[in-house]
Amino acid sequence: MDLMFLHRRGGFMKDWPGGDVHTKDGMIKAADVKKGGLVKTAKGEDYLVVEPTLRDRIQNMKKGARPIYEYDAGLIAAMLGIDGESVVLEAGAGSGCMTLVLANIAKKVETFEKEERFHKIAKANVEKAGFKNVELHNTDLLEAKLGEYDAVFLDMRGPTAGIEKAAPHLKQGRFLAVFTPIIDDLKPIANKLEELGFIETRIIELDMKELEVKKYARVKGLFGFPGFVVVARKFS
Ligand SMILES: C[S@@+](CC[C@H](N)C(=O)[O-])C[C@H]1O[C@@H](n2cnc3c(N)ncnc32)[C@H](O)[C@@H]1O
Repeated sequence: MDLMFLHRRGGFMKDWPGGDVHTKDGMIKAADVKKGGLVKTAKGEDYLVVEPTLRDRIQNMKKGARPIYEYDAGLIAAMLGIDGESVVLEAGAGSGCMTLVLANIAKKVETFEKEERFHKIAKANVEKAGFKNVELHNTDLLEAKLGEYDAVFLDMRGPTAGIEKAAPHLKQGRFLAVFTPIIDDLKPIANKLEELGFIETRIIELDMKELEVKKYARVKGLFGFPGFVVVARKFS
C-alpha cells in the first residue's frame, strides 16, 4: 500500500508492506503508521500519514521518459474536452504520468508505448494507482490496430506520423493534442493538421512561473518543464 509521510519540510511516498518506517527524523513505529493521521517519530518530529493523492503519485512515482506533470496534464485534458464518457487514445505512455490524469477523468484510455522498459514503468504506475480503465500496449503507435476515440493525445518522437495514423480514428468534431518540447516541431505539426482538414488549431506555450512571498511576492523560478501543446479539432 502506498502512503504519504508528510513533514513540515516536505515528505515522501512509500510502499508500506507493514513494519517500522525509517525517516531522516527518526523511526515511526508500525503501530503508529497503522493509525494514520499525525504521528511522532522517535526523535519527536511530527509526520502526517495519509493516502497519496493523484498529484502525490505523479510527483513521487518512478519515471523513465520525461513526464508531463499534473498541472500541464490538467490544461491539456481541458483543451481535449474530455469527460467521464470519453474514450481516449494516447501515445507514448512514457512513465504514465499523463495516462493517470487522463484515466482519472475519462471512461477509458488506450495507450501505446513502443519501448518495453517504459511500458513496464507505466504499467506498474497505473496498477499502483488502481486504475482499471487503462489498456496499455507495448506497441509502436504507427503499427497499432486502432479503434474510434473521443480524443487523441500524442507525446512522441515524430509527431506528424502519429497525427497521420491517429486522425482517421478520431470522431468528427473532437480534439487532438500534441505535446512537444521542440519549437521547430510546431510548423510541421500545424501544417499536417491543416493538410488533414483540422480546424481551430491553437498553439500554447507551457512556461508557467512559480512565485514566492519573502518581503514581497517575487518570481521564484520556472514552474515545470517548458514545452508546447498544439490542439486542433477534426473537421473532415
Ligand atoms: C516523453 S515520453 C512521454 C511521457 C508521457 N507523456 C508521460 O507523461 O509520462 C515519449 C514516449 O513516447 C514513446 N514513443 C516514441 N515514439 C513512439 C511510437 N511511435 N509509438 C509509441 N510510443 C512511442 C517513447 O518511447 C517515450 O517513452
